[in-house]
Amino acid sequence: MKKNIPYFRFEVAPMLKKTNKYCRYFYRQLTKKSLLYTEMIHINKIKNNEKILLENYNVNNIVLQLAGNQPKLLSLYCKKAEKIGYKEINFNLGCPSLKSQKGNFGACLMEYPHIVSNCIKSMSDSVSIPITIKMRIGINNSSSYTFLCDFINLLIKSGCQRFIIHARKALLYNKINTKKNLIIPKLNYKIVYKIKKEFPNTKISINGEIKNLLNIKKHLKYVDGVMIGREVYKNPIILTKIDNYIYNCKNKFITQNPLIIVKEMFPYIEKQLNNKISLITIITPLLNIFRGINGLHKFKKFIFNKKNYLNSKKMEVLTNALSFIKIK
Ligand SMILES: Cc1cc2nc3c(=O)[nH]c(=O)nc-3n(C[C@H](O)[C@H](O)[C@H](O)COP(=O)(O)O)c2cc1C
Repeated sequence: MKKNIPYFRFEVAPMLKKTNKYCRYFYRQLTKKSLLYTEMIHINKIKNNEKILLENYNVNNIVLQLAGNQPKLLSLYCKKAEKIGYKEINFNLGCPSLKSQKGNFGACLMEYPHIVSNCIKSMSDSVSIPITIKMRIGINNSSSYTFLCDFINLLIKSGCQRFIIHARKALLYNKINTKKNLIIPKLNYKIVYKIKKEFPNTKISINGEIKNLLNIKKHLKYVDGVMIGREVYKNPIILTKIDNYIYNCKNKFITQNPLIIVKEMFPYIEKQLNNKISLITIITPLLNIFRGINGLHKFKKFIFNKKNYLNSKKMEVLTNALSFIKIK
């Protein structure tokens, strides 16, 4: 009998200024099954421009990631997001930036479990789609195993249905900056596996420097799902294997030929150019599809050439640049 594979078995991590709507459209061409995320959106940003919630071509397999700390506003936008058709709503408890510390959202909220509990309760009481949390294994001194268990226990009771755990604690309050918070301190995958054992009825996904299909499978022996961020961005071709390898779904329409992938996106790219979006903005997430391929250097040189860059409301720039790519 075919095993029922949960839709969150594999997900692409939200990454501010990287996994934007152009990127998500591109990723969806490479994998029909993986769960994709919006970048983190602060509720105040939505308050100023609700149209931001409508930025996706097809939301039915996309998670909206929210940041903030006001239960009423969170609940309001959860309701709107559910109506629009988002698959889940994720609450950010992992962002270590100075801005998030000043604004009291993201990872620093892990120090205030009751604020988080109120937010999650308010969100989950207002919608029927799952409310999930993306978090760290701890922050600063709040990082013992007991702390983590108590935190998760409280949030399960508040209505959180799934946890995506970045297996590294965040060091806040000027200890280190945002970039370093993504490479130090050391990852601790075992604590995430232990949490899964501790809460067998709760869905737990793991995140942090997972780099290839073999490692995804290894983690999946211990947890319910795997999330990858930077490696997918650096090497998006990996996504063409996910539907088959993780979801057992033979998707014959997905090619692994980068040139065909990009050419199949021409109608979309043209439409965006007609909307006055610059070529660079639309194709930046695509560039790494040519990683390791002959001609990439010349391709990039051509695209980033000042003259072409300035003219780049034209499809022609892309078609000319692609002539440098030589696939064996
Ligand atoms: C440029 C960048 C932007 C990020 N933006 C977000 C974000 O908007 N929301 C979020 O929850 N995490 C964000 N993260 C963290 C990632 O989602 C992920 O947890 C982290 O990169 C670890 O996973 P990885 O090692 O597979 O990249 C960001 C990371 C990077 C590198």
